[in-house]
Amino acid sequence: NNSFAQKIDENIARVADFPQQGIQYKDITTLFQNPELCGEITDTFAEFSRGKVDVVCGIESRGFLFGIMIAQKLNVPFVLIRKQGKLPPPTISQSYDLEYGSATIEVQPQYIHKGMRALIHDDVLATGGTAEASAALIEKCGGIVTQFSFIAELSFLNGREKLNKFTSEIQGLVSY
Ligand code: PRP
Ligand code: MG
Repeated sequence: NNSFAQKIDENIARVADFPQQGIQYKDITTLFQNPELCGEITDTFAEFSRGKVDVVCGIESRGFLFGIMIAQKLNVPFVLIRKQGKLPPPTISQSYDLEYGSATIEVQPQYIHKGMRALIHDDVLATGGTAEASAALIEKCGGIVTQFSFIAELSFLNGREKLNKFTSEIQGLVSY
């Protein structure tokens, strides 16, 4: 509900001019100074996904934080989606466009079984490029992306529009 979103928002620090002049950075790591709130956040994510996913896929690096907690709470496996070159073989890759240039992410396909229902989790949904590539990667491995969840969503960047082709079940706890 609204007051829960407000509480999360109040626990996200603002940092001026980072990583660039004129950008106000939202530092979600301040949430970890409040263990009780972290418990509530984990419970909220877990309730959204309970019975609906067979695996939680967390996006490097900040998607690992609540991602592993959600997987533990649901008692399902956790899989790491990492930047290129970090995971040992075998890996499957997916490239995607950035504003300037491109990026590649990878997963170990032996953990994604055919027909597995996957949650893609990350801290922030911005343009949606990273989450979209992650979903494409999981589907390349035979998984089915049934849900996405994020702590924060930058709704003015319309990231959801890139994710609707996979599923309409998209959870964002706070929206900016
Ligand atoms: C940030 C954020 C998301 C991604 C969202 O990660 O944590 O993963 O960008 O952007 P998008 O929706 O426009 O693709 P970042 O690249 O800063 O890496 P980090 O999580 O490893 O710090
Ligand atoms: Mg990230």
